[in-house]
Amino acid sequence: MKEQLEKIKLEAKCSLEKATSLEEINELKVRFLGKKGELTQVLRGMGQLSPEERPLIGQLANEVRDELNSLFQERVAAIKKIEQEQKLQAETIDITLPGKTFARGSNHPLTLVIEEAKQIFIGLGFEIAEGPEIETDYYNFEALNLPKDHPARDMQDTFYISPDIVLRTHTSPVQVRTMERLKPAVPVKIICPGKVYRKDDDATHSPMFHQIEGLVIDKGIRMSDLKGILLAFVQQMFGPDRRIRIRPSYFPFTEPSAEVDVSCGICGGSGCKSCGNTGWLEILGSGMVHPNVLRYGGYDPTQVTGFAFGMGVERIAMLKYGINDMRLFFENDIRFLQQF
Ligand code: DAH
Repeated sequence: MKEQLEKIKLEAKCSLEKATSLEEINELKVRFLGKKGELTQVLRGMGQLSPEERPLIGQLANEVRDELNSLFQERVAAIKKIEQEQKLQAETIDITLPGKTFARGSNHPLTLVIEEAKQIFIGLGFEIAEGPEIETDYYNFEALNLPKDHPARDMQDTFYISPDIVLRTHTSPVQVRTMERLKPAVPVKIICPGKVYRKDDDATHSPMFHQIEGLVIDKGIRMSDLKGILLAFVQQMFGPDRRIRIRPSYFPFTEPSAEVDVSCGICGGSGCKSCGNTGWLEILGSGMVHPNVLRYGGYDPTQVTGFAFGMGVERIAMLKYGINDMRLFFENDIRFLQQF
């Protein structure tokens, strides 16, 4: 029995040394140390031994089992190490290299200006309204006091889809749409940022551009309210030292109508090259809402009054960031866009 044990030990050792994979080792473990393995078979026969021999052989069997167990463990560890080294050598990428970084995008300057304007007007108690870019002739012109043969239509002669459907030429149609939605409630206090379309195309005009419309209606609204709101807007958008100037103008949907200038940020109002020596830069059109427009929207001009304004977002952005060509906004040159 002693010899049998020695033989098992020797055989197991030899086979282990030859084994090259974890599967082979597992098989050997079953063969030598498993429940039906060779060592167990030998121990089964211990009953036939004399009482003197039994403890000696038992001890020897335990020693053999312990030795084999630790040999198996060593061999498993060695093979795992070899396998990992082989894997690493086969690896074509270096997993310790830092990962690829992706260039982060940023907001378009027009988005920045629209977002900032929204925040300013929300702070002044306004809500944000919306309207369709494909608009009916009725909302784009008719309901704004611009009947079919009105000469002021010429300035905005534009992309007609059919005689009655047009790509909106300004955000002003949202005025009447908003009045219809809210009437007869007051106050109405909305701005509407959005895209508009006209058939111009040069350094200061683009066939698609953005406007922000404003409309306020309530009992007793006066021109001074318009002035106060626009001054607050201009000083938050351009800086607290800026002033505004209001000049008489004409729009069919306002009476009286006014154009609003902001004092030049470069010369401070004394006159320089960028403001054409006037000290002022035009930023928007505005006025008191025409009684006809209030009526089209379902409000009674004997009960309420209102003011409205419309500004070009590109123009605001050009003044704010010192950009001299409107086409830069739409060329998508990453070197331009990365500056914001
Ligand atoms: N809709 C005008 C334009 O596109 C701008 C404008 C002028 C809007 C006066 C207004 C306003 O609301 O009161 O030229």
